[in-house]
Amino acid sequence: MVKPFIIGTRNSGDYLHGGAKVLREGGSALDAVEAATRLVEMNPNDTSVGLGGIPNILGVQEMDASIMCGKTMAAGTVGALKGFIHPISVARKVLEHAPHVMLVGEGAELYAKVMGCEQGSLETEESKKVYKAFVEDAFEHEGIDESQAWVVNYARSQNLREWYDRLADEHHGTVNIMAMDENGDIASAVSTSGTALKFPGRLGDSPIIGAGNYCDNRYGAGACTGRGELAIRNSTARTIVHYMEGGLSVKEAAFRAMKDIHELNSFGGMNCLAMDNKGNTISATTVEGRESVYYYMDVDMETSERRVGITVPE
Ligand code: GLY
Repeated sequence: MVKPFIIGTRNSGDYLHGGAKVLREGGSALDAVEAATRLVEMNPNDTSVGLGGIPNILGVQEMDASIMCGKTMAAGTVGALKGFIHPISVARKVLEHAPHVMLVGEGAELYAKVMGCEQGSLETEESKKVYKAFVEDAFEHEGIDESQAWVVNYARSQNLREWYDRLADEHHGTVNIMAMDENGDIASAVSTSGTALKFPGRLGDSPIIGAGNYCDNRYGAGACTGRGELAIRNSTARTIVHYMEGGLSVKEAAFRAMKDIHELNSFGGMNCLAMDNKGNTISATTVEGRESVYYYMDVDMETSERRVGITVPE
């Protein structure tokens, strides 16, 4: 029997204790991944998740999140969600109570309100500063008129792509959290503010089951950070689990999935976190020269342990 444990991406090391506590008290993997993700969402210094997330091109923060239960394969996801403190808990409410898997935009906000989820601003001085710098750089200090017609012109220009490419890699992040509980059940959670200065309504891989998050008790779980467009095109999270189903180890599965990303021959880096149903864990990145760091904590540990996964060359 595997000791209950929780793992998370490089930005989760200080927050896994929230999920480990749940597991230690006999709670479910699903509760554990939600608890740890909520803590990451409250870190104002993480500019890619929850509070302090860099806004879209209109200066509005739009959050994506998903949560999946490996036992039932039930899932809940939200996309382009504005004005709620814990996107992961809105996703959990979708999983538990909605007849749907995915809600986006106004509909997701209406649902969150009906379900009594906590509302509030996720802006910080830093997130406002990054947006201000964008406006000043892009418009040579002239500012943006209220009509928003500038967005159309801007989107047509090459500038949007340049900014997107630069800032997406400066402010990349996203959190992936996975856990196994005392029953051997597994769960996975993902939360993000998406790529910086994205076009309004842009969804990344995080709220798309199979792309940024996938979990199946029979084999394991996969989740992604990085340029979400790539994981959407390859269904990366599901692919990792599919490779394990085909007999590959979790390490081989993550390696193959990152190789598949290279095959797309597109701009941007991709990273994944994965575990199998025997408790083996790994992370992987396509970014050369980057250590693929993740954190591990079991119920007997007081702090999380830093682990290094694999860097997958082209
Ligand atoms: N992987 C997060 C995103 O692209 O939004």
